[in-house]
Amino acid sequence: MISEKMQKALNDQINAELFSSYLYLSMAAYFESENWNGFAAWMKTQSGEEYDHAMKFYKFINDVDAKVTLDAIEKPKTEWKSPLQVFEEAHKHELYITDRINKLVALAIQENDYATNLFLNYFVTEQIEEVSTVAQIVHKFNLLSDNKTSLFLLDRELGMRAK
Ligand SMILES: [Fe+2]
Ligand SMILES: [Fe+2]
Repeated sequence: MISEKMQKALNDQINAELFSSYLYLSMAAYFESENWNGFAAWMKTQSGEEYDHAMKFYKFINDVDAKVTLDAIEKPKTEWKSPLQVFEEAHKHELYITDRINKLVALAIQENDYATNLFLNYFVTEQIEEVSTVAQIVHKFNLLSDNKTSLFLLDRELGMRAK
């Protein structure tokens, strides 16, 4: 059993993960419109992962006999200045999600909610991975000069991302 407060916090996280999925899909759509097919493919895969995250929360809430309540998903941004700006924002967004996960863990500890705390462990590890992956991409953008040739190579590299 989880508290009402925890149930609400976990439902809010479903919304945050679905928004992440929506945001990355919007970033994919921006890339498609600019013909950056590799970046678009990378973002579509990322969007799918965020949907999977939402579904992990969905399953856990049901597993502990609480109720999933879905809310409206915020409209994501649709235009960016450059591929670099997109990945910088994705990095910032992952830091924000990490902060949210940490707050959920803090609540679980405060409530002596061992089951939720254990469940959240997966996301603590996952966020280290997510932040690091996007930070490395931003780093690569900054290493290469912002010319068409380096962008073309990066687009090809990210397009090879394994699912
Ligand atoms: Fe996520
Ligand atoms: Fe993520």
